[in-house]
Amino acid sequence: MSITILKGTVVSAPTLGELEVMESGYLVAEEGRIAGVFPVLPEQYAGAPVEDFGNALILQSLADLHLHAPQYPMLGSGMDLPLLEWLNTYTFPTEARFADPDYAREVYRRLARELMENGTTRVCMFSSLHREATLILMEELERAGVTGYVGKVNMDRNGIPELQETTEESRQETLLWLEQCQDFRHVKPILTPRFTPSCSDGLMEFLGKLAADRGLPIQSHLSENTGEIDWVRSLHPDCGQYWETYRKYGLWNERTLMAHCVWSDSRERAAMRTAGVTAVHCADSNQNLCSGVAPVREMLNEGVKVALGSDIAGGDHLSMFDVAAASIRASKARRILDGWETDFLTVAEGWYLATSAGAAFFGEKPGFAPGNMLHAMVLDDRDLPHLPTAKERLERCLYRRQRDAIRAVWSEGRLAFSCKKK
Ligand code: GUN
Ligand code: FE
Repeated sequence: MSITILKGTVVSAPTLGELEVMESGYLVAEEGRIAGVFPVLPEQYAGAPVEDFGNALILQSLADLHLHAPQYPMLGSGMDLPLLEWLNTYTFPTEARFADPDYAREVYRRLARELMENGTTRVCMFSSLHREATLILMEELERAGVTGYVGKVNMDRNGIPELQETTEESRQETLLWLEQCQDFRHVKPILTPRFTPSCSDGLMEFLGKLAADRGLPIQSHLSENTGEIDWVRSLHPDCGQYWETYRKYGLWNERTLMAHCVWSDSRERAAMRTAGVTAVHCADSNQNLCSGVAPVREMLNEGVKVALGSDIAGGDHLSMFDVAAASIRASKARRILDGWETDFLTVAEGWYLATSAGAAFFGEKPGFAPGNMLHAMVLDDRDLPHLPTAKERLERCLYRRQRDAIRAVWSEGRLAFSCKKK
């Protein structure tokens, strides 16, 4: 039997707002599945090799539940327009280049490697509308050890001539893609209507039926920008709110991820909670595109499931450490805007959202719970000034962009990345 034993300062987020710390603890996995975190190595593992990382932090690896792979080439550029203009001016032309499989291979190999270097082992990702490039993306993630869901984007209206499918093409290509991606072990398909303005009623109906027939998860965008919301209202006058355009076609359930939800009011949030939809908070992107400040504290208080997304390239970096810090900052902005009435997110809460909350979408229990697959990383901060507690060290991890301090990453039980100290 294969046994992995990691020794160090083990920190995990078993509940929202609480960190569990074990100094000189042993994180043990059998056949890639966590057996437990122990203060003393249990007898049954005597003689098994222990990887001793000294005082280094052993953390859960990160989950990015919303990002756009074909926007990676425009990372850090084109931040001067609001959403709808930004899509037409920068985003759609950038995604159109993924008709070329060689280009896709080169970009996606780099992206997959960079995710792993940043400690991100689980993703829910938008590809472009191109079937072949989507399969290449899945291959490259699988090769790098990144796990999760990838969606071929569906968009049969309001694109640009170089980036739009007919309804029939969208249907046929989606079915063929689903057939061709069956053999991937760690990267699975997720249905991806880009957002309501991109999909005709017929296409939405097809996708809703497909989700029900095959038990497939769904990802899309919701209430990101006020201009977008007005547009959706004019496209679907029969729907009182944006979310109803998804529900109408069977795209609104406990296996649905909705990115942004910046302008979701209490009624829309109640609809999320009741259906078990997960809101993916993308704080960097929301600020970069002047979309707004999402009411994350309210969502959490109301029992809505919330996870985090980098939303590159609306977001300007892949590091989920940064995204967690940005979420905390956004909650402070919300507090200022709301007249100091709402509490901001704590570091422990931000960390939970970036790790355990994302892992929950994959059916995992929070923290390093026994039975979970091993998704972990070692963070070596010994070059930085001494801090007395693991909690303070974790806070510094969030704010100091310590990508170079990540020494090793395990994904789905396997060592997927390791880097000797420079
Ligand atoms: N809404 C529809 N498409 C997109 C996209 O690519 N990025 C963001 N941030 N919002 C969208
Ligand atoms: Fe997005």
